[in-house]
Amino acid sequence: MNSLPKWYPQHPPIYDIHKTYLENAEYGPFFNGEMPKRIWPPKEQWIDFLGHRVASRIGVPAGPLLTSQWIDLAGRLGFDIPVYKTIRSAEHPSHPLPNMVFVNTHGMIQNEKHPKNALLVRDPSPHLEELAVTNSFGMPSKSPLFLHEDIPRANACLQEGQVLVVSIVGSVRSDCTFIEDFVKVALLAKEAGAKIIEANFSCPNVGKSEGCLYMSPITVEEMGKAIARAIAPIPLIIKVGVFSSEQHMKDVFTAAAKAGIRAISGINTVSMAVVNTQGAPALGENRPTSGICGGPIREVALNFMKSAAKINRSAKLDLTLIGVGGITLPEHFDAFFEAGADIAMSATGMMWDPYLAARYHQSKFKENL
Ligand SMILES: Cc1cc2nc3c(=O)[nH]c(=O)nc-3n(C[C@H](O)[C@H](O)[C@H](O)COP(=O)(O)O)c2cc1C
Repeated sequence: MNSLPKWYPQHPPIYDIHKTYLENAEYGPFFNGEMPKRIWPPKEQWIDFLGHRVASRIGVPAGPLLTSQWIDLAGRLGFDIPVYKTIRSAEHPSHPLPNMVFVNTHGMIQNEKHPKNALLVRDPSPHLEELAVTNSFGMPSKSPLFLHEDIPRANACLQEGQVLVVSIVGSVRSDCTFIEDFVKVALLAKEAGAKIIEANFSCPNVGKSEGCLYMSPITVEEMGKAIARAIAPIPLIIKVGVFSSEQHMKDVFTAAAKAGIRAISGINTVSMAVVNTQGAPALGENRPTSGICGGPIREVALNFMKSAAKINRSAKLDLTLIGVGGITLPEHFDAFFEAGADIAMSATGMMWDPYLAARYHQSKFKENL
């Protein structure tokens, strides 16, 4: 297939937002399009990503790729660095439906102090670059038994020039400390064959102890060191959110580099109050805020990346930078590379346009068609 058909808004997303997380894990991904012809760049143009040769610098961040079936599809669609959805040390349920709803953010979000609440809407913008969604899953996880079988399957799906990252998060448990549980899940990922591990230090939809870890340089150094040591020589990435200032970012990045963390991925979703037309919490009283993703967070994410690149360069931290947030069109990947990202990834964009990677490859390597 040389010319890629328009996907959005005629076709539904590959994740069915009306189905539960478990139904999506079991029966998804829901993709019935033709598989695009992959355009591989010549091998001499492949790049090193944390010790692995990858054919391109684009991927899918933690979240949309629930199991090896999803990793398989992402790889075949041309996303060379897929991230396996964040896992825990024990099976964990998802929040009830709804987990994803469309919202109106009243334009681009500039920072966490955006003046308005996000408003629940029935229909999204017909323009993919404006698509705004909130997601609230509570980081569900499959059991260790399942993961020990499925992570090797996910590795095996990928081709030469592609590499899997496994995302992990610690849980608050009575029988061990939080840091011990984080190390436990890191070792689970390592034993299951993870080649690169990403620790989620920034989920806005869970308890405070799990969600805001990245804000404290001391925590980042302590936890980062414990995880990095446990998984060595496997490289460790941390997933972070926005910072209140460049100094804050610099303190955290410096602590991360000191701890042996090799890469920073950002940003996670931007937390906002999501309300219905009556002004009540759209996801129920227990979930007054949730993470916004898609087009409207792109500017915040690009500003994050510009600051991150500046700090990485000036403080000589040698961190690999992974840009995430609001990438819905092929040219958005380039905007992140221009901002200083080494790698760029799309979650919402790839769910609503599974041909996004193929469009990017076509735009770069037209002569190879
Ligand atoms: C359906 C969905 C589930 C997500 N789950 C996770 C997760 O488990 N762990 C994580 O670190 N980020 C998770 N995220 C956040 C994404 O990795 C990403 O940071 C965010 O969506 C912004 O990128 P986007 O605008 O391309 O969607 C999730 C995002 C989506 C859309």
